[in-house]
Amino acid sequence: MLKIIFIWGIMIYYSDNLSRSLEGYLSENSYTKVFILVDENTDKHCLALLSLSFEYKVIKIKSGEKNKNINTVSFIWESLLFENADRNALLINLGGGVISDMGAFAASSYKRGIDFINIPTTLLAMVDATVGGKTGFNFLNKKNMIGLFSNPKEIFIDVKFLLSLEKREFLNGVAEVLKHGLLFDLDYFYKVAELTIHQSLNREFLASKLSYRDWEELVKKSISFKEKVVNEDFEEKGLRKILNLGHSIGHAFESYFLDNNIDLKHGEAVILGMICMLNLSCEKLGFDFELQNRIISKFKKIYSLNIYLFFENKNIIKYLIDDKKNKNGNILMVLLDDKLKAIYDIKITESEISESLDFLKTIY
Ligand SMILES: NC(=O)c1ccc[n+]([C@@H]2O[C@H](COP(=O)([O-])OP(=O)(O)OC[C@H]3O[C@@H](n4cnc5c(N)ncnc54)[C@H](O)[C@@H]3O)[C@@H](O)[C@H]2O)c1
Ligand SMILES: [Zn+2]
Repeated sequence: MLKIIFIWGIMIYYSDNLSRSLEGYLSENSYTKVFILVDENTDKHCLALLSLSFEYKVIKIKSGEKNKNINTVSFIWESLLFENADRNALLINLGGGVISDMGAFAASSYKRGIDFINIPTTLLAMVDATVGGKTGFNFLNKKNMIGLFSNPKEIFIDVKFLLSLEKREFLNGVAEVLKHGLLFDLDYFYKVAELTIHQSLNREFLASKLSYRDWEELVKKSISFKEKVVNEDFEEKGLRKILNLGHSIGHAFESYFLDNNIDLKHGEAVILGMICMLNLSCEKLGFDFELQNRIISKFKKIYSLNIYLFFENKNIIKYLIDDKKNKNGNILMVLLDDKLKAIYDIKITESEISESLDFLKTIY
């Protein structure tokens, strides 16, 4: 069964048969050449599952956030050029957020822009990275420093890809789903948290009785939350900023650990950021203290992040000040008020940040 949802004129297919959907798309659009961007994991676990009857060339890059840089983007451009891709070529980004962010950027800038399609293969990419038009790569070890807004022609989502994800990668995506719960629907937050905790106890994790089907509904719901906000404010002039909940401090952690060659996932960084955000929300906007504790206790049941809590506050704050979302030297953040409403552009001082980082260190 094929269900089609329109987001920004892009069709999102929840397809049981991705190969046929892709072929259908290609038969309706004439491209001179088709390229599929993969990393070694999505080559093995995702591309191998497809049986495609059309001709395509594979561009394979090395996986991982540390390769989300100008050299890899340059390699994608070179590969396209080497194969004589013209302006009517198509790039299919088959992978997680690293693939879709970089592939989308490379496609949007190659010969002033060629079409691209996203096929997200991680939970994080499904509910977040491939929806909303943000593309880019890290530069001088700063997260997503170079990029542009550009939408794919289509996004094909097939949750079956989630089955081969490692547990840590899956939980990485759960962080964004939990963020959606805090922003839009607290019952949804608890539902996702309980499902994840229950599933984490199962040795086989996703390939258990609690099949990926449970997540299909959650992926759809999370996309619809994000869609609503993005539709109102595509270029993040206002409302869209609420989607950065937990992300300012989260990104600072991400950049700091990236610089120090310590592997911290985006979602894990966002959880650290959301704990600080909750603390600041209590201190500044009267967010309920008990509720803060209940939410943090769910985070703790899902994520063991204690190994990341040995840092000096000033090192994290340094990265926050460099964040491209801050203006005129002010640190601006999204917080939740006493009615759980997300308020953006709240000015936070360095000492308030430092206190919230101290709070974080007491959590585990
Ligand atoms: N553009 C946006 O709006 C946006 C939003 C959120 C995050 N992001 C970006 O997304 C990136 C993180 O995305 P991610 O977590 O998907 O990371 P990722 O792309 O690095 O994927 C995580 C790992 O899983 C592997 N993998 C992917 N699909 C798999 C599958 N089905 N089976 C087995 N292994 C698989 C990958 O090879 C990689 O090793 C970050 O760079 C972040 O900045 C962008
Ligand atoms: Zn995120």
